[in-house]
Amino acid sequence: METAKSMTNWKPNTWRSKPATQLPNYPDKKKLEQVEGIISNLPPLVFAGEARRLKQQLADACHGKAFILQGGDCAESFGEFHSNKIRDTFRVLLQMAVVMTYGGALPIVKMGRMAGQFAKPRSSDTETVDGVTLPSYRGDIINKLDFTEEARIPDPERMIRAYNQSSSTLNLLRAFAQGGYADLNKVHNWNLDFVQDSPLTERYEAMANDIERALNFMKACGISSDTVAPMRETDFYTCHEALLLPYEEAMTRVDSTTGDYYDTSAHFLWIGARTQQTDGAQIEFARGINNPIGMKVPPALDADTLIKLIDTLSPDNEAGRLSLIARMGAGQVEEKLAPLVRRVKEEGRNVTWICDPMHGNIEKSESGYKTRNFKNILGEVQGFFNVHRAEGTHPGGVHFEMTGQNVTECVGGADDITDEDLSSRYHTACDPRLNANQALELAFLVADELKKL
Ligand code: PEP
Ligand code: CO
Repeated sequence: METAKSMTNWKPNTWRSKPATQLPNYPDKKKLEQVEGIISNLPPLVFAGEARRLKQQLADACHGKAFILQGGDCAESFGEFHSNKIRDTFRVLLQMAVVMTYGGALPIVKMGRMAGQFAKPRSSDTETVDGVTLPSYRGDIINKLDFTEEARIPDPERMIRAYNQSSSTLNLLRAFAQGGYADLNKVHNWNLDFVQDSPLTERYEAMANDIERALNFMKACGISSDTVAPMRETDFYTCHEALLLPYEEAMTRVDSTTGDYYDTSAHFLWIGARTQQTDGAQIEFARGINNPIGMKVPPALDADTLIKLIDTLSPDNEAGRLSLIARMGAGQVEEKLAPLVRRVKEEGRNVTWICDPMHGNIEKSESGYKTRNFKNILGEVQGFFNVHRAEGTHPGGVHFEMTGQNVTECVGGADDITDEDLSSRYHTACDPRLNANQALELAFLVADELKKL
């Protein structure tokens, strides 16, 4: 079998000869080429060495020695771009990670669906409102959400704007992660104001007090965040769906240390549920980059096809290279996931299993909102852990759509958001997200499951 390193029949542009789905049809081809040229000369957003470090941590998760927390917006947008939003999402991810680290006594690998998560697959190429049919909105990196003919024309220049926004987002994330904000001594401060009135406060504060006592004890012994870097800073990685291939190709560079190709738009890229055709363009692109990659696993994916895709995407069977992000739906997670986990184990393939309890649990509320019921999200996470317990395999991580804002987009949770509440703060341009309280509640559930391992 051809190994990733010896891949002679792959180049960043070989996807162009494959059938592609979900790609926009840019009317101005000349402008598209110009933009691709510009982007391919811009500095990389991430470095190959960072991607290799993440791959190592994902390998640890594959072996049950670490656990992954992946989270952020369904889609970032140009309009919602603000430092406070980035900070709040980062802060909730830190809170979730500390809850999970404390409960599971495992290192938590943190990845944000941030700094590049712009392109969206759509179930239909067009959208019809009041008898008018227009091309679908495909994310801010491609076209605009407004329902006008002009807004929906794919504009290549939006890729440059997305690059710039990703660059400033990543700059801020790096500052938060390395500049003192993530210091464990700040565990109390990460509690957002609106979380303070929630039923979860007591539980979070009790844990934060325990951590504080442990830190004081260690300080008395001469170990503190002044002297030990991992106590005052953290690794934070970025990830997004590898959907918009002209952009991903333009961001792909040869790493000068190893001579291998890396997609420098993010540390980790994944293939979505709608673009995993075995001979398709997105799979062709993903197989050649040396970043750690992911692939969503929807209920319709059969075991034979899954094994074939694993062998295409991870020909060296190297742990950490491929994460499988299962998104089955609460009602069928045990029935659908168990046979796949069993087969992958029987065939000796090294993959890291991650649970996405969001995309199999979308429903329409009675009042017409696209929502998710918190009960189902919890249920899918629980089912995921049950499957791995029964199969004797390692649950490797979780993948959430969440925000640090106090939105009302998913029903249920400790604040018991109802269908009537959805209209009050429903801000997503895409899928409904967990708010900070709901995200924290889930983190406690995950921590309880990790304790049982
Ligand atoms: C997503 O993660 O936003 C997404 C579109 O997921 P999926 O490909 O699993 O539907
Ligand atoms: Co989504």
